[in-house]
Amino acid sequence: MSIHSQRKKITTKSIAKYKGKEKIVMITAYDALFANLFESYVDMILVGDSLNMSFLGESDTLSATLEQMIYHTKAVCNGAKSPLIVFDMPFGTYNTKEEALKNAIRVYKETCADAIKIEGGRDRAEIVEYLTKNGIAVISHIGLMPQFVRGEGGYIVRGKTKEDEEELLKDAKALEEAGAFIVLLEGIKSDVAAKITKSLKVPTIGIGAGVGCDGQVLVWSDMFGFFEEFKPKFVKKYLDGAKLIRDSLEEYTKEVKSGEFPTDEYSY
Ligand code: KIV
Repeated sequence: MSIHSQRKKITTKSIAKYKGKEKIVMITAYDALFANLFESYVDMILVGDSLNMSFLGESDTLSATLEQMIYHTKAVCNGAKSPLIVFDMPFGTYNTKEEALKNAIRVYKETCADAIKIEGGRDRAEIVEYLTKNGIAVISHIGLMPQFVRGEGGYIVRGKTKEDEEELLKDAKALEEAGAFIVLLEGIKSDVAAKITKSLKVPTIGIGAGVGCDGQVLVWSDMFGFFEEFKPKFVKKYLDGAKLIRDSLEEYTKEVKSGEFPTDEYSY
């Protein structure tokens, strides 16, 4: 029996009440099988465009498409009912407020996503405001923004100077005022992320942003040791999944080659 079996559906309204009371647990998922395994334990599931790297094998997230994300979100929706499901808007799908709303409406119509996530600071506040006024729940993603990696020239940790700290604080405040119901903080110095968290009424969720955030998110294939290309400092490996698979495959291969498998137990 899981720790959270028979949970009530977590909504954009109920998640706001976690702030200051209970930490928010979020994980990524890209399919029904794993979403179903995760659902009893986590408060939120992010269908992240990180799937473009871990599952499609691309070197960054930029080529993810709306169609691809909708397909994976439908799968996650089929696997998990109670967590709050977040759709990660892919690069280039929210450049103007009109385009953002058109695409977000499509996401709401075609999937069960409760909210969308968009990367960008106060330069995107107008888009966030337009979306929220039109009934779309928005999570803003600031700090290290993977969709900006080519433009920025790499994955750069933020908040290392006083000036950058002030920029980030201004971004977070503007996005909260624009209506974002959560601000996701990625790759930000822990003390700065903690200050941002204290300055906001809405919850923050951190990834590589220290323990002072209201919640944490990790990419499942990183935390379970399946994605071996690289391991950022902030990823804790809770399982050596790749080793488990290799060991099992070695055994399976050996047994098939030797004729040990299938025995009568596995035959009709
Ligand atoms: O795409 C993703 O998985 C994300 C997380 C890194 C927050 O945006």
